Amino acid sequence: EKGGWSSFMAKEISEQPEAVLKTLLGRVENKKVVLPDLGVLAEHLEAIDRIVIIACGTASYAGMLGKYALEKWARIPVEVQLSHEFRYEDPVLTPNTLVISISQSGETMDTLMAVKYAIEAGARTLSICNTQGATIARESDAVIYTHAGPEVAVASTKAFVAQIAALYLFGLHLASVRDTLPAAEIAAALDELQAIPAKLEKVLLTAPRIRELAGWMSDTRAVLFLGRHVGYPVALEGALKLKELAYIHAEGFAAGELKHGPIALIEPGQPVFVVVPSPRDPNSLHAKVVSNIQEIRARGARILAVAEQGDAAVLPFADEVIPIPLAGALFEPLLAVVPLQIFAMELATAKGLDVDQPRNLAKSVTVE
Ligand code: F6R
Repeated sequence: EKGGWSSFMAKEISEQPEAVLKTLLGRVENKKVVLPDLGVLAEHLEAIDRIVIIACGTASYAGMLGKYALEKWARIPVEVQLSHEFRYEDPVLTPNTLVISISQSGETMDTLMAVKYAIEAGARTLSICNTQGATIARESDAVIYTHAGPEVAVASTKAFVAQIAALYLFGLHLASVRDTLPAAEIAAALDELQAIPAKLEKVLLTAPRIRELAGWMSDTRAVLFLGRHVGYPVALEGALKLKELAYIHAEGFAAGELKHGPIALIEPGQPVFVVVPSPRDPNSLHAKVVSNIQEIRARGARILAVAEQGDAAVLPFADEVIPIPLAGALFEPLLAVVPLQIFAMELATAKGLDVDQPRNLAKSVTVE
């Protein structure tokens, strides 16, 4: 079933272009989003005044990316909550609140309980789910299925990129319904989305180099991940993958937070992955992240940068640059996450660990 791959995880990482492609399939027509999936929810979209995204683990990082996109495109307030915290916060929910759950399995008990809570409180519910007919999908008012195909490896990879694609489709649809984005901008964003599968193929070509790097780092005790704006959830995801697969202490930070404490962790030789925003970023975040890199490099950090190809500003300060193709700011995470997935898998492999079945973990967490 692994079809020549050394693990299901390796296979699923390689299937990411297809996972995005299939999630978009039939949902973009004439530069517009078509989502018949929304069913009864469609008539309530105009009245929605707030969105709460609930999920756990990797799915929650897809949710964070969904927040950036939905707020930017549909100008609607979005908050992201871990499913298991949500109910205990006495959340403010009304019939105009849309609660979006994200779950690969559709069976995660924490998320299911949160969805049931939202339904009882009278909120509208939408699920983004990778498993046909799963409980969370059945409970929700509507479901947008991600078509990543079955994910067997415990660590989520292809489901994550498919979740982002589904959230972005929904965000662009919402923008069109609410008239918050000109049709030309929606069309341009859809073009970006449809260009992702081919760009993912290019990112996958970095795998041999990442395997080499990981091979040299098998006795590493801690790895830090930095990102900013949409690079921040990518950093969190890179750290989670490394913890669960390679059993290495890893932490993701928002790069701007460094000087507020975490920079004290930097000592000579400390590996730090940095997800670098595009130099074309209109908010000049690129320059800020490059200056973060200089600060930690001066303290001896070993910099592994995931940066846009041709980004010359990063080169002098990085020990290694993993290039990703050019993409619009919101779309970079779909590409930047892949080298981090591969790194975690290869480091675990170098340590002789089972990447498909990490210790203490189950594919679907059906207890609270
Ligand atoms: C990380 C991972 C977990 C899941 C989380 C949610 O690699 O697999 O963090 O993402 O348990 O699972 P689903 O999406 O099935 O609700």
